[in-house]
Amino acid sequence: MTFTPGAELADPLADRFGEDAATAVAHPNIALVKYWGKRDESYFLPVTGSLSMTLDIYPTTTTVRLSTEPADTVVLNDRPAVGEAYARVARFLDLVRARAGRDEHAEVVSANAGPTGAGLASSASGFAALAVAAAAAYGLDADARALSRLARRGSGSACRSIFGGFVVWHAGEGNGEAGDANSYAEPIDGDALDPALVVAVVDKASKAVSSREAMRRTCDTSPFYLPWADASRIDLEEMRKAIARRDLPAVGEIAERNALGMHASMLLARPSVRYLSPRSVEVLDRVLALRADGIAAYATIDAGPNVTVLCARADEHRVIAALREVGGVVDMPVAHLGPGAALVPDGAR
Ligand code: DP6
Repeated sequence: MTFTPGAELADPLADRFGEDAATAVAHPNIALVKYWGKRDESYFLPVTGSLSMTLDIYPTTTTVRLSTEPADTVVLNDRPAVGEAYARVARFLDLVRARAGRDEHAEVVSANAGPTGAGLASSASGFAALAVAAAAAYGLDADARALSRLARRGSGSACRSIFGGFVVWHAGEGNGEAGDANSYAEPIDGDALDPALVVAVVDKASKAVSSREAMRRTCDTSPFYLPWADASRIDLEEMRKAIARRDLPAVGEIAERNALGMHASMLLARPSVRYLSPRSVEVLDRVLALRADGIAAYATIDAGPNVTVLCARADEHRVIAALREVGGVVDMPVAHLGPGAALVPDGAR
């Protein structure tokens, strides 16, 4: 699938084809202003708004087929899902069934092109693809905003992967059903900025503490959480302005301070959560050295040790060369702005 900036698919369900099966593709996103903390856990309502870039790498492809079996079956990357991974998908399907007024179970088959659970947003692409495929298979009448609200119920950051390019997730206000109605993502115009993201992968293993647990613990116990959330609201406003005026250094500075503040708030959680490894810090040092050399490169880090470096497309090869010199970088995928989630038309599967 190729992404032409500006040519956003208005309706992810436009290629709806079947009565009882659908396949959808969605891409991960990296937040430049982070979502960290829920005000209502059961509805996945965030404390603060956030802003991300949808990537053009590591898509998730998910098929949902209605079945006559007595329970849902879920296969993730060729293996039957068990435990919490299975329960999250089954709970999500319960929500779709309740909305659609149907009770058939489903077979879900999903494949991730990127590493799962290593802080590279696999749950975002996963639940965005599942939302679009399940909505089509169960015949839900949902526009892109409704799909974004639905995807949010699987994993908060998934609401942003419904859209391509730069995306803002409005926190909204209120809890429960009232909050659900006004907490959704929407695309913002920023395609002209066209940055590159160089992902310095220093560890491919799944993280020891899930982002869900880590954000809960940070909210509940860190004395730095509320100051970070207050600063993040300002970061979001400033980020929108910096994107609108195509100011890459300002975008990078805001993204870097927002991410480091999030990690600082986690370090002060009780018990402390530390995702950064010595290798992450080495990459951060290299990013500072690049800036000292006059290259506008800035770091952001999600709930894992891998460091994503934002730069102008014209500088990406210099950034890659510099990060190669850091020992322990095991992989370095490069991403640009990618497309929103969409059904795969019947004939293309
Ligand atoms: C650090 O969306 O994975 O990547 O809503 O509990 O599923 P749940 O959390 P999730 O958290 C993402 C956290 C983050 C920041 C971000 O993507 O904004």
